[in-house]
Amino acid sequence: MSDLTNFIATNADWFYLVGAILFVLTLRGLSSPKTAIRGNRFGMAAMAIAVVTTFFLAEGPVLWLIIGAMILGAVVGMWKAKTVAMTQMPETVALMHSFVGLAAVAIALATVLHTEQQHGAVARVELFIGCFIGAITFSASVFAFGKLAAKSWAKTLVGGWVKPVQALLFIAMIGFGGVYFVTDSLPAFYAMAVIAVIFGWMWIAPIGGGDMPVVVSLLNSFSGWAAAGIGFTLGNSMLIIAGSLVGSSGAILSYIMCKAMNRSLLNVLFGGMGTSAVAAGGDDAPKNYKAGSAEDAGFLMSNASNVVIVPGYGMAQGRAQNAVKELYELLKDEGVNVRFAIHPVAGRMPGHMNVLLAEADVPYDDILEMDEINSDFASTDVVLVIGANDVVNPSAKDDPTSPIFGMPILEVNKAQTVMVIKRSMSTGYAGLDNSLFYMDKTMMIFGDAKKMVEEMVRSINGGGH
Ligand code: TAP
Repeated sequence: MSDLTNFIATNADWFYLVGAILFVLTLRGLSSPKTAIRGNRFGMAAMAIAVVTTFFLAEGPVLWLIIGAMILGAVVGMWKAKTVAMTQMPETVALMHSFVGLAAVAIALATVLHTEQQHGAVARVELFIGCFIGAITFSASVFAFGKLAAKSWAKTLVGGWVKPVQALLFIAMIGFGGVYFVTDSLPAFYAMAVIAVIFGWMWIAPIGGGDMPVVVSLLNSFSGWAAAGIGFTLGNSMLIIAGSLVGSSGAILSYIMCKAMNRSLLNVLFGGMGTSAVAAGGDDAPKNYKAGSAEDAGFLMSNASNVVIVPGYGMAQGRAQNAVKELYELLKDEGVNVRFAIHPVAGRMPGHMNVLLAEADVPYDDILEMDEINSDFASTDVVLVIGANDVVNPSAKDDPTSPIFGMPILEVNKAQTVMVIKRSMSTGYAGLDNSLFYMDKTMMIFGDAKKMVEEMVRSINGGGH
C-alpha cells in the first residue's frame, strides 16, 4: 500500500495531466448532443483520477477530514439529485455555484489565518483575488437561486441609489484588498471579504428575471475562476486547469447567450432590461384571439406536409416531453415532415429543451437550432408551440419600445398556421404580452401541455389515418 501511495504521489503530475486531457475531451464531447454521453464519461473518469490522486497526496488527520467531507457531500448530493425536479434544475445549479464560491472563501481564510507562514506579494494577490471572486460568486449565486426559485427575499432592487452604492462597495472592496496587500493586515482582509459578499448580492439584485440565464452562466464561469484561485492557493495544478476550463467555457457560454439575445454582457450586467415584472399588454383595449381544441389541432397537423414543434418552459413544467415524442412519431408515421425548433434560451437553463427531448429519445437530426430553422418557417404549414412564449414573441423584432426588442426569436409568425398550447393568456418569464397570440393565423389551445398533447395523439389515432 505504501508503495502504491509512493508511486501515485511521485507521479501525481502525470495523473493530473491525464485528468486535464480528459477534461478537455469532456468539453469537446459536450459540444454536441450526439457525443455528450461520451463527454460525460470522460468527465467522470477525469474527476475520479483527480480525486484519487489528490487523496494519495494527503496525509494524517486531513485524510480523515477529506473522507468525512466526501461521504457527507456524496450523501447530500445523491439525495438532492434524486429529489430535485427537472424544473428546479436552474436554481439548483445556481446553489451549487454558491458552494464553490464559499469553498474558495473558506480556503483563502484558512490560508490567511496561517499567520506563522509568511505570504509573499504574489500569494497575497492570489488570496485577495481568490477570496473576493469566491465571495462574490457565493452571494450572487445565492441571490440567483432565490430569484429563480421565486423566493420572497430575492427581490429585484430598483432605484437611482443602486449604481452609486454598487460603485462604493466595489471601491471599498478593492481598497481594503489593497491595504491587505501592502500591510498584510488581517482585519483589512476580513473587511474585504465581507464587502465582497455584500457587493455580490447588490450586483446581481438589480438584474431582471429575463437576464437570469446569462447571470447563471456567468456565475458558472466565476465559480470556475474561484476554483482556479483555490488551485493557486493550494498549489494544485489539477484544480487550476479544471477551474480555468470551467471559467472559460462559462464565459464563452455567457457570450453566446448574450449574442442570442442581441445584447452585450456589459448591458446585461450594468443596466439593461431592468425588472422582469413588465405589465402585460401595453394598452388596455381588449384583444381578440381564437381558441381551438386538441382535436382541431390533431386534424390540422395530420393533414399538413410540414410541421414544426416549438417547445418552451411550459413543456418542462407540464412534463410533456414523452407525450410530445409520441405525437412526433405518430405524425412521422402519417408521412408528415416533423421537426423541432429550439431557441437558445427556451426554458430556464441552457440546453433545457435539448435535455428533455433527449430524455424522451427524440432523434437529434430532427432537433434544429434557431439559426438552422428560422428561414424554414415561411414554408411551414403548421407550427405547434408548446408552452413557449417569450422566445416566439414578434415584438422582439417589430416593436422598438419592447423591453426585449433586438432579442432574436423563432419566427413562427411567418408560418401558415400557428397553434399555441398554454393554460391561459398570461405572460411568460419576461412578463410581456405576446402579439403572436392575437394573429388571425393563430389558434390558442388552452390546457396543460401534457394533457393537450395526449389528447392530440388520441384524436389522430382515433382519426383512422
Ligand atoms: P416563457 O416565456 O417563460 O413562457 C412559458 C409559457 O408556458 C408561459 O406563458 C405559461 O403560460 C406556459 N406554461 C407554463 N406551464 C405550462 C403547462 N403546464 N402547460 C402548458 N403551458 C404552460 O418560456 P419560453 O418561451 O421558453 O422563454 C424562456 C424565458 O425564460 C425567456 O424569457 C428566458 O430569457 C427566460 N429564462 C431562460 C433561461 C434559460 S437559460 N433557458 C433561464 C432563466 C430564464 P400559462 O401560464 O398561460 O400556461
